[in-house]
Amino acid sequence: MPKIAISGKGGVGKSTLASLMAHIYAQKGFKVIAIDADPDGNLAAALGFPPDLTARVTPISQMKDLIEERTGAKPGGYGLFFRMNPRVDDIPDRFSVEHRGIKLLVMGTVERGGSGCVCPESVLLKALVTHLLLQREEVLIMDMEAGVEHLGRATAKAVDAFIIVVEPGQRSLQTARTVRRLAADIGIERVFVVGNKVRDQSDREFLRENLPDFTFLGFLSYSPLALEADKQGKAVFDMDANLVEEARAIVDALEGKGFYASPRPE
Ligand SMILES: Nc1ncnc2c1ncn2[C@@H]1O[C@H](COP(=O)(O)OP(=O)(O)OP(=O)(O)O)[C@@H](O)[C@H]1O
Ligand SMILES: [Mg+2]
Repeated sequence: MPKIAISGKGGVGKSTLASLMAHIYAQKGFKVIAIDADPDGNLAAALGFPPDLTARVTPISQMKDLIEERTGAKPGGYGLFFRMNPRVDDIPDRFSVEHRGIKLLVMGTVERGGSGCVCPESVLLKALVTHLLLQREEVLIMDMEAGVEHLGRATAKAVDAFIIVVEPGQRSLQTARTVRRLAADIGIERVFVVGNKVRDQSDREFLRENLPDFTFLGFLSYSPLALEADKQGKAVFDMDANLVEEARAIVDALEGKGFYASPRPE
């Protein structure tokens, strides 16, 4: 089952791509879990989850009792001893919400207490991501911030595709180069790029010319309907059939690289 991580500069379209890919795999009949791992995340909205369902979601990092129960230490604690291998296998099913065949798990923000700090909540989240990548039989789509937070050397090989989203403009290209370096540092090899908010052929050429040593999986067109979906709190896949087709081509391109989702066991 493909395990896909999506990164890139703020506002570039990570959640939009994540929601489209989750939708396509769900439509194909696969079990899909979408992970909102962006501290400033909004994946529930991008997936068109109804507000009452979204309201029931507590980010894992805010579950103080759970964190203490599993790690043996209170979140925010400092200089404590705690378990580095907390139990996490029940968390995805217990704390995710599901809508139209897509499960959603929200990680939340980890307050950083200075460089090198290891805190109970980050240990729990990292263990959870490791479990999701290595142990679960479902398509995983992880919506991340511009970086590799929650991933590490132990899980790098389990990431089938690390997709960096860019848009026509120097800032997101610069972020893409930085993020790829961070990914390489922890041993992530299969890094791809998707161009979003592309208006025409010259935008595609601009992106390709500026990222000559990146592998492009495809492009998503600039779409007023994507903005409209955001305004209305609807999923973009319900608003713009063209974007769904473009995202399908991106999923196909990934399969062309050998990352098939195997049929769901009966
Ligand atoms: N192809 C597109 N055409 C037009 N607007 C788009 C497109 N893709 C995304 N957008 C719009 O850009 C904004 C940011 O998109 P999105 O939330 O997917 O980005 P993000 O990278 O997840 O942002 P953040 O870093 O804030 O989480 C939204 O308003 C969205 O509707
Ligand atoms: Mg987002």
